[in-house]
Amino acid sequence: MTLIESARARQILDSRGNGTVEVDLRSGAYLGRAASASGASTGAHEAQSFPHGGLEESLRVFHEEVARRLTGRDARDQAGLDQELHDLDGTPNFSRMGGNLATAVSLASARLAAAAAQLPLFRYLGGPGAATLPVPFGNVIGGGRHARGGTTFQEFLVVSQGPRAERNVMANVRVHRRVGEALALRFPERPLGRGDEGAWVAALDDEDALRLLAGICEEVEREVGFPVRPALDPAASEFYRDGRYRFRDRSLSPSEQVTLIERLVRDYGVVMVEDPLQEEDFENFATLTRSLGSRCKVVGDDIFVTNVTRIRQGIECGAANAVLIKPNQIGTLTDTRAAVDLAHRAGYATIVSHRSGETTDDTIAHLAVAFGSYGLKSGAVGGERLAKLNELIRIEESLGRR
Ligand code: PGA
Ligand code: ZN
Repeated sequence: MTLIESARARQILDSRGNGTVEVDLRSGAYLGRAASASGASTGAHEAQSFPHGGLEESLRVFHEEVARRLTGRDARDQAGLDQELHDLDGTPNFSRMGGNLATAVSLASARLAAAAAQLPLFRYLGGPGAATLPVPFGNVIGGGRHARGGTTFQEFLVVSQGPRAERNVMANVRVHRRVGEALALRFPERPLGRGDEGAWVAALDDEDALRLLAGICEEVEREVGFPVRPALDPAASEFYRDGRYRFRDRSLSPSEQVTLIERLVRDYGVVMVEDPLQEEDFENFATLTRSLGSRCKVVGDDIFVTNVTRIRQGIECGAANAVLIKPNQIGTLTDTRAAVDLAHRAGYATIVSHRSGETTDDTIAHLAVAFGSYGLKSGAVGGERLAKLNELIRIEESLGRR
């Protein structure tokens, strides 16, 4: 039993300079602290991050209603606490207290229980069997909702797949740096910036960006001696309007978009493609999974929103072979875990992911190890991204892998 004795919530900053919520739960000398991130390209079916009154309203609900229901509870009773959050909120998508508040409370409780058990979070949640390190996905070139003036596709990522997390993280950064150098040479007169997740922003067309990234991945792969491969997150819902995918200079029908993705994956050795189609198009997702599934992870983010109902629908029609996992898309750890378990039972891989507006909270690194997830998507550079990557390196060390 780990009695929650006090509960506090506060506004802190995220990496875009917006306010978000952090929660502290205490039991004796033990502290459980967690903060929630925020997305920019959010799925239509996600939990609502904040109520209509914004962060202030979340904090008001916390102080007037939630805090006193937390004190006296057992932090080890995660399912009970998460049910209490649902009951208190009373809406299907946490629109009254805000999904970010629910997520921070839920994760803080797990952190408190782990602290009191004197275990790292990944061990407390994953048990003695949690010993597989996820491969890191790092965002290298970006655009979409994460940067003005960049590519139409939101993210061009690298995933290094060597036997050690620490070397994978370093290889991802090497690709990121080398792409920056290549862009500086290519556009000597232009300023070169970075987007919300630290990815380079340049006036490239999507295929150009992928070509550049794939070439540098090959170069770094030769140097490090393990697979270093490109991955894509078009975040296609963001540029889909009135039945067509709208690029800067042209628009594509859904079947033309399928053909484009198939060609890009094949021509450039892409090993993971996330949200290649808009979030309601289960059918064309299934078409792509049939044609690419043997060579590539077809990942659902906005289409599944870490929600078991949507994931089940996807499994039934073969819409994907992997699920992106973002705790604040669904609002509690229990619901997040249910999504992971469902995915794994169906043979789908899971990738635990940051949001574009992040804090220095490192919980997702622990979740990825606890769940035995295939991947951790947490950028390549930038303090709020490194908080997770560096924690992954520490976890690996604690497992005696180095
Ligand atoms: P978001 O996007 O955090 O801005 O919602 C990240 C993603 O689409 O993977
Ligand atoms: Zn995504």
